[in-house]
Amino acid sequence: MLGTETQRHPFLQGLSKHRGAPPTAIVIFGASGDLTSRKLVPAIYNLSVDNLLPPDFFLIGFGRKEMADEAFREAMTESVETYSRRELQKDIWERVCGNAFYHAGGYDQPGSYQVLRERIEGIEKDLGREVQTLFYISTPPSVFQPILENLGSSGLARRHRHSGFASKVVIEKPFGSDLESARELNRVITRQFDERQVFRIDHYLGKETVQDLLVQRFANSIFEPLWNRRYVECVQITVAEDIGVGSRGGYYEQSGAMRDMIQNHTMQLLSLTAMEPPVSLDPEAIRDEKVKLLKAIQPLNLGEKDADVVRAQYAEGLVGGKKVPGYTHEDGVAADSATETYAALRLTINNWRWSGVPFYMRSGKRLARRVSEIAVQFKRPPGILFSDAERFDLASNTMVIQIQPDEGTTLLLNSKIPGLETRTQPVKMHFRYRTTYGSNTPEAYERLLLDSMVGDSTLFIRGDETEASWKLISPILERWESFGRQGMESYVAGSWGPLAAERLLWNNRHEWRRAGP
Ligand code: BG6
Repeated sequence: MLGTETQRHPFLQGLSKHRGAPPTAIVIFGASGDLTSRKLVPAIYNLSVDNLLPPDFFLIGFGRKEMADEAFREAMTESVETYSRRELQKDIWERVCGNAFYHAGGYDQPGSYQVLRERIEGIEKDLGREVQTLFYISTPPSVFQPILENLGSSGLARRHRHSGFASKVVIEKPFGSDLESARELNRVITRQFDERQVFRIDHYLGKETVQDLLVQRFANSIFEPLWNRRYVECVQITVAEDIGVGSRGGYYEQSGAMRDMIQNHTMQLLSLTAMEPPVSLDPEAIRDEKVKLLKAIQPLNLGEKDADVVRAQYAEGLVGGKKVPGYTHEDGVAADSATETYAALRLTINNWRWSGVPFYMRSGKRLARRVSEIAVQFKRPPGILFSDAERFDLASNTMVIQIQPDEGTTLLLNSKIPGLETRTQPVKMHFRYRTTYGSNTPEAYERLLLDSMVGDSTLFIRGDETEASWKLISPILERWESFGRQGMESYVAGSWGPLAAERLLWNNRHEWRRAGP
């Protein structure tokens, strides 16, 4: 168990109270994949630096290709050297590596799971005590089902089921590709595991700023009274990236912005921004409110006239001064691809708090800059005193919660320009993580790995939550599929997206803000 020293670590003082993880063996399926080397292994390293791993911690990489334990450890070390936010400290890392093993096996071969089980039991025997097993599924979705079924039939899913050492399963995105496949995946999971053993990942929930959203909303008394239809004009959620699809063309062709970003990351930002205050910080209390919010969203208008959604693909353009190809010229992308690299939505939330307040969301690749933010735009005061536009340059008060990269919150206010005349201009009040907390904040995966080991599901998606989100998104995808490329807009790489996304807001006399601090 973690000692009292580590229990006091600030990282542990999260949304709910941590008690420390029991002895744990993590089995990573997809051990030679990109996510393992870029995110999971560096996260494990940083947890060990912070003394947050249980003293009895074991790592088993499960993958299809043959690899010796030593080669696996070397690959892990390389990934820490390349991707960790902190320098490699050999003494600490060697302790983790000493307990890391590689297990080659087929995801659909029952025999591999029997051997895995024996291996875990061997660890317990040597240790002289039980360990919990955390199965981290980070493979392509096509093998989710065989892995889950084999975990069930081998008995691995039920190990120590009625103790504090019950197995847990962490499932990476994509969680289904539409409502039906998400439902089916939930059925497969719950045949083998209880919901309390299941941790569906959305790495945005592990971001510090996303967790801070609840603190900013509910630990300050100045915002919550304004957080409703009486004072809020609209809410804009932007998750913009400047990168293209890079080497992931094959994956992205099947996914597109809607499945890759909107259904999960952006919807999570929306539910945390708009949900009602939960009755407690208990995981179920928070997740209940998120589901209620998702269910209150009105089905979108997908008609040809005044539709609530826009989709687009990037065309050749300049990003950061460099010429980049259009989407259909990227590797692994069909020349006549009908996959959207940008999506924007106008949402209506039919509940007491938000009736009549439009929520706009957009996400895309190859946009002008990498920025994720939530902008709550407040109503303007009556135009009685400062209505002369010549003299009074006024902006709507806006609270911008900057998720990344320059984490923090900005409040847009109006102020008198010093001088003998009364002139005004908008000014910004900034709170920056960088200046207040320093720049070395934990990565999302550190938080999420620790929480899953501890069994805290607050920052994970519940089964009904993912279905509620798909229920909204699936009809859009069906509609788009039936249209093929018809209605696909285009935008120049390096711009802020297609003109059609601007039009989405004009009806309400709104416009997208220029995202950024
Ligand atoms: C992933 C998507 O879930 O999130 C990627 O598959 C995207 O396409 C990434 O680039 C963005 O994550 P972050 O943390 O860099 O904003």
